[in-house]
Order: sequence, then C-alpha cells, then structure tokens
Amino acid sequence: MKSIVTLFLLLSITFLACQSESASDKSAEAPKSMLADQTQTKGKELFQSKCGICHHPIKDMTGPSLKGVAERVPSKEWLYQWIKNPATLLDQQDAYAMAVYEKWNKTTMTAYPDLSNEQIDQIMNYIDNFEIPSSSAQ
Ligand code: HEC
Repeated sequence: MKSIVTLFLLLSITFLACQSESASDKSAEAPKSMLADQTQTKGKELFQSKCGICHHPIKDMTGPSLKGVAERVPSKEWLYQWIKNPATLLDQQDAYAMAVYEKWNKTTMTAYPDLSNEQIDQIMNYIDNFEIPSSSAQ
C-alpha cells in the first residue's frame, strides 16, 4: 500500500513538473507583448488586403468605420457569420443585418468564406487598436 502511495506521489510530481516546464517554455519563445504585436501585424495585413478598399477603422467609406464594431453587432458569432457570408444573414432576414444593409444603400459586402474565426479575431484586434498616427493628429 505504501509503495502505491509513493508511486502516485511521484507521478503527480512528474506531471506537475512537466506542466510548469511547458508553460515556461512557451513564454520563453514569445513574450505576451510580442504575441500581441504579431497578431496585430497579421490583422493589419488581412485588413488592408481584404477590407481596406471599403472600410477604414475610424472613417466611414463605402462601408462603415469598424473600430468598436464588435460591441454594436448582436454577437461575436454574428460577426463571424457576417464576414464569412453576409448574404446568409440577409436571407434569414436577420434584423441587424437588414438594418445595416439598408443604411448603407444596399451595397453588398464581399463574402470571405475562407477567413477563419482566428483570422477575423486578428482583423478585429488590429481595428480596435488602431490609433491616429501622432503626426497627423497635430
Ligand atoms: C466591397 C466593399 C466591402 C468590403 C471589401 C468589405 N466590406 Fe464590410 N461592409 C461593406 C458595406 C457596404 C457594409 C454595410 C452593410 C451592407 O451594405 O452590406 C459593411 C458592413 C460590415 C460590417 C458590419 C458593420 C456594422 O456597422 O455593423 C462588418 C463587421 C464588416 N463590414 C466587416 C468587414 C471585414 C472584416 C471585411 C474584410 C474581411 C469587410 N467588411 C470587407 C462593404 C465592404
């Protein structure tokens, strides 16, 4: 009986040791701030290549300015669904989708079915952290 307890203790110590080791490994690879930077860079690239023709983070263009958009849309799921395929929500007569579509003169937004939720999060991260460059703010 005693040896079983010892074995169990040893196993849990090994398990705990491995866990904390892998956790510290990760933080050694990429500190949090660096990870945030990478996410924003990817988001910026995606935004500029796919959304920038019609959207600006803080200016209305063909489509509305997008900073803070996650807070005004019905839900995160709605946001993913809209960006992947706005037509689906319009077909379902989703109230928010219909209203925003009307407001923007029934301009059809491009669908991006290939974007993953993670990529959409990266785009949103870039938009929400967008700030006016200090030179043009003066
Ligand atoms: C061809 C122009 C066009 C492109 C490209 C485009 N959008 Fe849009 N977007 C619009 C328009 C116009 C609207 C307003 C709703 C409508 O008319 O369909 C809109 C609405 C939205 C909304 C809802 C805004 C609100 O106020 O609730 C979100 C979110 C959005 N777009 C995100 C994106 C993202 C992210 C991309 C890039 C992956 C993108 N859009 C690319 C034109 C575009």
